[in-house]
Amino acid sequence: MSEPIVLLLSGPNLNLLGQRDPEVYGAQTLQEHQATAEKAAAAHGLTLEHQQSNHEGELVEAIHAARGRCAAIVINPGAFTHYAWAIHDALATFEGPIIELHLSNPAAREPWRHTSVVAPVASGTVAGFGALGYRLALDATAALLKQ
Ligand code: DQA
Repeated sequence: MSEPIVLLLSGPNLNLLGQRDPEVYGAQTLQEHQATAEKAAAAHGLTLEHQQSNHEGELVEAIHAARGRCAAIVINPGAFTHYAWAIHDALATFEGPIIELHLSNPAAREPWRHTSVVAPVASGTVAGFGALGYRLALDATAALLKQ
């Protein structure tokens, strides 16, 4: 039997991690976070797929393509977190666990980051733990899939 697939989705500007505001987001690149997530997934008998996009519609389509194929979604929607209702609606059609992931803690930042339109359709949120969040999100995903 093949391993359950976890889709890791990365939103806009996360391709610039490592160069972008390292004091807020850390020094690691997205590729390094992906490698951390892959390792954590493998330790739980899960296969990780990763997709990054700067385009809302591409993320919506990736969520659609995950329906019936992936067991769970871990998503760092970047700034789409705060206003992209199309991503909210797409995630609402996904049957498995959804983990919202942020490197920083948006609740401790500017007021416009305090709203998440993803949170109402997420199983839970991992935020503010920097690079560690990728492992925590995969651990949480595995725990939810075991339930
Ligand atoms: C982020 C937080 C968002 O507010 C921001 O727009 C990002 C990154 C995070 O990982 O901390 O692009 O999602």
